Amino acid sequence: MTKNDSFWDLYWEMRLKPMENLGKRDAILAVSDLIRLIAPQVDHPLRLLELGCGEGQIIGTLLEAHAQLCSCERSVGVDYDARSVAQCRKDFPGFGCIEGDITDRDLLASLGKFDIVLLVNALHEVFSDSYSTELGEIDVAAGKQRVKQAVGSAAGCLEPGGWLVLFDGLEPAGDPQQNLRIRFRDLDVRQDFEKFVEQYQPFHITYRQNEDPLCV
Ligand SMILES: C[S@@+](CC[C@H](N)C(=O)[O-])C[C@H]1O[C@@H](n2cnc3c(N)ncnc32)[C@H](O)[C@@H]1O
Repeated sequence: MTKNDSFWDLYWEMRLKPMENLGKRDAILAVSDLIRLIAPQVDHPLRLLELGCGEGQIIGTLLEAHAQLCSCERSVGVDYDARSVAQCRKDFPGFGCIEGDITDRDLLASLGKFDIVLLVNALHEVFSDSYSTELGEIDVAAGKQRVKQAVGSAAGCLEPGGWLVLFDGLEPAGDPQQNLRIRFRDLDVRQDFEKFVEQYQPFHITYRQNEDPLCV
């Protein structure tokens, strides 16, 4: 199969299109390429581990599509959200989905070794979990430390020569301190913005009123 082949187009139309995208298609296509690249280089079906697997749409899809190259029974997903784990087990009963914290080194060390370890759109949440009530926003140093630890533990789950796949497409590029000028479509949208600023916890957002009521 090639990257743009009809298989993935059809699969996307039939199974995955309704789900929130957030770059999932790109992640799935890239790992699909990787699986086909490395499968001939090893003498066993590939074992996949997805940390922060949610409902299993990434790892489940890849295992379904590459059943002949991967070992479903020896692949694992981990997530600390009980509802997502339950949904994952229902939708993709072929592989083990464990409820647990991916920053727990002992848990990760107990899982064994894998040919591909995936972290797809999960690391930004590991970072955000370092929200400090004292600071009223994320403790950035603690968040970075947590991410470092999670990546280190994930790398520890790799077979020699294994691949760690990091994909986090939610944060826009650029300097978060940079001022932005925002124009709202109408006053309702502006009100939504004010509500968002009030409720968004990870960072303080400040804005200055412009003469134009539709601009900040
Ligand atoms: C945006 S979702 C992505 C899910 C999946 N990787 C995908 O792309 O479909 C992030 C997932 O990471 C999980 N997560 C975040 N921090 C975690 C942690 N410390 N331990 C386990 N799961 C975590 C969340 O519960 C959530 O299901």
